[in-house]
Amino acid sequence: MQLPHVPLGSFDLSNPEFWTLPREVREGAFHTLRTEQPISWHEEWEFLDSQFPKGPGYWSLTSHQDVWHVSRNPQLFQSGRGVNIGDLPVEISEFFGSMIAMDDPRHFRLRSIVSKGFTPKEIGRVEEYVRTKATEVVDRLLEQFPDRTCDFVHEVAAPLPLQIICEMMGIPKADEAQMFQWTNIILGAGDPEFTSSFEDLLGAGMGLYQYAQALGEDRRANPRDDLTSIMMTAEVDGERMTAQEFGSFFILLVVAGNETTRNAISHGMKLLTDHPDQRALWFDNWDQHTRTAVDEIVRYATPVIHFRRTAIEDTVIGGQKIEAGQKLVMWYCSANRDETVFTDPHRFDVTRSLQPAQVGFGAGGPHFCLGANLARREIAVMFDELRRRMPTLRVVSEPDHLQSAFINGIKRMQCAW
Ligand code: HEM
Repeated sequence: MQLPHVPLGSFDLSNPEFWTLPREVREGAFHTLRTEQPISWHEEWEFLDSQFPKGPGYWSLTSHQDVWHVSRNPQLFQSGRGVNIGDLPVEISEFFGSMIAMDDPRHFRLRSIVSKGFTPKEIGRVEEYVRTKATEVVDRLLEQFPDRTCDFVHEVAAPLPLQIICEMMGIPKADEAQMFQWTNIILGAGDPEFTSSFEDLLGAGMGLYQYAQALGEDRRANPRDDLTSIMMTAEVDGERMTAQEFGSFFILLVVAGNETTRNAISHGMKLLTDHPDQRALWFDNWDQHTRTAVDEIVRYATPVIHFRRTAIEDTVIGGQKIEAGQKLVMWYCSANRDETVFTDPHRFDVTRSLQPAQVGFGAGGPHFCLGANLARREIAVMFDELRRRMPTLRVVSEPDHLQSAFINGIKRMQCAW
């Protein structure tokens, strides 16, 4: 891809308008930052209807090396003061973010409990279900769309991750549509189509939270064969998860596990349509290239654009002095295009080596994505079904993108076969 030159001073990462610019312009801006000012200071914008005072600004980290450093040194850079750019009161941040917005020892305790639901054995069980669900998604497409065209996001990418989380956690099918609506509101914050006020956001959070509390309490009393039961009955150092803790973790799980995987699958389909050579290479050599192809989709798409940390003490990164209390934003989208790390980073290459690692699931450290292996499995199985049963499937419209500095989302995208 030929990137336009986007000079320093001509763009503002904090301005919501920046995230509506054509992709190559944004890529050009991050290229300029990486090469001319890999760590730079940015002013903040008002967010969420100006309900919260404008924050003090943040450091932007754009290189792979610096994102890696901050992510892997939690003793210097904490999550407990917020993981997105704007500051929310800590209670709200934890309410929505659960352990992703906590530091040790609280993070360690919660992660130890919920990890019991993500052991290879448990994920192995879910895998069978992933296959069944992906088969059903394709069955439906073949049966219910005689015109051989539909919205890919709505009919293919969205149902799979949502149904899998619901199945894992023991949520009845009848409640899935409600889950979908709540998570859309939470992750679409900023995009006028999904939410316009802080009240909507809080309402969706409360809906999920109360639903989960009731579910958790029920499974504690009557354990079943699902992850909610495993988590609600697991003990770490003689302690169990409270129903409130489960409520917040549940918000994190449905939000983190749904939208991200959905967007990876949607971007994947668009990339494979735009790069028929890569599609043929992967699809004709499935076993050989699946591992790298899936990670390349996640690198290229970077469904989660950033997370933030806060410096605990004065420190220096790449020669830049950082003061205690200052915010640092890790731009995964930029680290995943770092030309000092990835050869020809703007090329989509399904055979790209797994080393050095892409940072789409985080850059390592205690918060590394808990569901990375599950997500990889979902993406692989979905494309396996599509390649075998719908070999002519392709994207036929330009994607309609979510307006967000946090989630690289596709709202709609027509496909045909
Ligand atoms: C392509 C799909 C996915 C992407 C791109 C993604 C990305 C991420 C990223 C960037 C983080 C933060 C990492 C850090 O701060 O170091 C994260 C954390 C997390 N993810 Fe994922 N994720 C995906 C799928 C999933 C799935 C399927 C689940 C669960 C079903 C999940 C559950 C979580 C949880 C619970 C955390 C918080 C971990 C912690 O704070 O200890 N994610 N993910």
